[in-house]
Amino acid sequence: DSVHVFAPATSANFICGYDVLGLALNEPGDEVYLKRVDKPGIRITKIIGDQGLLPTHPDKNTVSACVKMILDFLGKKNYGIEIELHKKMPIGSGLGSSAASTIAGLFAINRLLGEPMSKKELLPFALKGEELACGHGHADNVAPSLMGGITLIRSYHPLEVINLPVPPELCCSIIFPHVEVQTRAARQILKNKIELTDAVSQWGNIAGLITGLFTEDYNLLSRSLQDKLIEPTRSILIPEFEAMRKIAMECGALGFGISGSGPSVVAFTKGIDTAKTITIKLTELLKDHEIESNGYFSFI
Ligand code: HSE
Repeated sequence: DSVHVFAPATSANFICGYDVLGLALNEPGDEVYLKRVDKPGIRITKIIGDQGLLPTHPDKNTVSACVKMILDFLGKKNYGIEIELHKKMPIGSGLGSSAASTIAGLFAINRLLGEPMSKKELLPFALKGEELACGHGHADNVAPSLMGGITLIRSYHPLEVINLPVPPELCCSIIFPHVEVQTRAARQILKNKIELTDAVSQWGNIAGLITGLFTEDYNLLSRSLQDKLIEPTRSILIPEFEAMRKIAMECGALGFGISGSGPSVVAFTKGIDTAKTITIKLTELLKDHEIESNGYFSFI
């Protein structure tokens, strides 16, 4: 009566698709151990790797809160569940940290109960977990963490999630500079109104990006990986943003931008070797500016 689940980190927005596009990385990710016990109630018994940052109260932690929501929804009263959360990725990084924990918890409780719910049925509960973690229920981290690959949130009301094709050589390099950017704050600084001309270029890019995924056209992907709406406001929170972009593009990146709400940045590449080179060069650049960072390179 115990399960052990891994859920992957994700990179939301895919440069031009704020709140509607996201993709799963093959690493890092979080792990949840869930055990059924006789004593009723849901308890977090251990959190490893969070530097004491996450709440352990069962109503405040997204993992236990989501486990409770599922048990309530299925009418399973008096269940005793003990949860261990092993954070294997940085918090507040722009890599969908809260989403990975939430999805691991939801997947684990569903597995423990014999899979009464489908992945799509689990998603609305994951959105509530995101709302608890950062004040807004966006789906572009939880959906790819749960479904894998690249996902499109075609609509929030009603929730409609579509899995997109992943061109075989599409990879990415991710750098997490150690500065604090909280999703909640990074959403509050955004403008609520946008110019029609910016909207036109943005939806052109999103449509081009989706077409490029279906046709495996890496040049089209490259032309489409631009963000007119969000990046100008948020990039000022990220140290050496333009210098990192310059190096990534010189190394052959298809595109470069902010991963989720930052401070991580992402460079998309054709092939893992270019992604690896970019990760090494950007880590060196930040080190020269005395900025600590974590670097990853990943298939999608
Ligand atoms: N789409 C969200 C945002 C992702 O950009 O705020 C947060 O990880």
